[in-house]
Amino acid sequence: MKVCIIGNGGREHALAWKLHHSPSVTDVYVVPGNAGMTSIATVVNLDWKNRDTLLAWLLEYKIELVVIGPELPLVEGLSDAIRAMGIPVFGPSQQASRLEGSKSFAKDVMLRYGIPTAKYEVCQDVETGKGIIHQWGVPIVLKRDGLCGGKGVTICETFTDAEQVLQEMLSNSDECVVIEEYMQGQELSLLSFVDGKHVLPMIGARDHKRLLDHDKGPNTGGMGAYAPVPELDDALEQIIVDTIINPIVKAMAEEGYPYVGCLYTGLMLTEGGPKVVEFNARFGDPETQVILPLLQSDLGDIMYATATGRLEGMTLEWSKEYASCVILASEGYPHHPLIGRTITGDIHSMDTRSRVFHSGTAYETDHYVTQGGRVLSVVGLGDTLEESLEHAYERVGMIDFEGQQYRKDIGESSLDFVYMHNIENFR
Ligand code: AMP
Ligand code: GLY
Repeated sequence: MKVCIIGNGGREHALAWKLHHSPSVTDVYVVPGNAGMTSIATVVNLDWKNRDTLLAWLLEYKIELVVIGPELPLVEGLSDAIRAMGIPVFGPSQQASRLEGSKSFAKDVMLRYGIPTAKYEVCQDVETGKGIIHQWGVPIVLKRDGLCGGKGVTICETFTDAEQVLQEMLSNSDECVVIEEYMQGQELSLLSFVDGKHVLPMIGARDHKRLLDHDKGPNTGGMGAYAPVPELDDALEQIIVDTIINPIVKAMAEEGYPYVGCLYTGLMLTEGGPKVVEFNARFGDPETQVILPLLQSDLGDIMYATATGRLEGMTLEWSKEYASCVILASEGYPHHPLIGRTITGDIHSMDTRSRVFHSGTAYETDHYVTQGGRVLSVVGLGDTLEESLEHAYERVGMIDFEGQQYRKDIGESSLDFVYMHNIENFR
């Protein structure tokens, strides 16, 4: 099978790498890809925004499955255009992608179908917003109602802070702001293959969204991740599938927008049970970089079955290992990343101990340079969470570029849990 992936980040590198190793896949193309992928895929210098050129290319190369990585092409309806030409697509329709693209749409569906999530109000003017903030109290969460690459959410600890952020958000766009009750707890990402009807959950992963250690600093696209998450046992997974994932998939089908692709459910494990923080219409980045190295089933087969509505009866096989990912980010990320810095060290070898997926790199004459906010996804593997973290940080120590930022506390919250419950290897 000839597969084409749309996207150019660490998530797409991990997808390309896994598909390259899938027995069902003969050729992997990536549009536009990045400099780190050339040994495992054909990097195609096309802009997916130039839709007619892309569609003609897909037909000419007889692509049999298209996998859309990022949210923007989904929200802009690229999957509908490709599907209309008769090519199976892994990625939801424009209408179904609103689960990610519009927080107010997602909240409205959850409310109408009784899916647990934080209390919320959509607000368009400052006075109403201030009223809600004072009624609910702080901490309180303010969200822009559009795609913001994980950076449109602010958790406000004081009233002054909340009022200021509200004013800023409402004056900067004509969109509305979603005001949400603050949920206390540990976060968990549970990604599932969904074929419109059937759901196949993957192993749980945990992202680290804040820039700095101990969850300080601004929200980012994600600074690191690990999988599986020891707190997610079979009983908790069943609750999440029964109360959240199956109901949302059923709701989307009933509303007339069947969901096809990877459904990313971001959860808060609160004292009152798991609640939805957000849905994303795609694989998570960097969750994908830790989930896929542990998948033993043929990813090409699963993605094709997802795209063609044939997931029923399929199962997933997982290795018993753990994977951890540390993101190396540019100086100035997330607000003003500085790029063009020379990267030194081993950023290519893939072995049983560690792997590096390229998130934002470019090749210049004879060396690699940084080309994005997130630069490299450094992944460690091990029999325990601790060992996978050791391997990831060991590899981080071998790579350098000026101004590099990374978190030193990836996985710590679960390490505490593992020690507290004396879990050697919970799988
Ligand atoms: P989102 O883009 O909605 O996923 O939000 C980004 C991050 O902000 C989440 O991963 C959480 O860490 C945090 N967050 C969002 N909503 C809430 C909430 N209602 N309560 C607590 N934290 C939240
Ligand atoms: N890691 C968060 C996301 O992909 O949205």
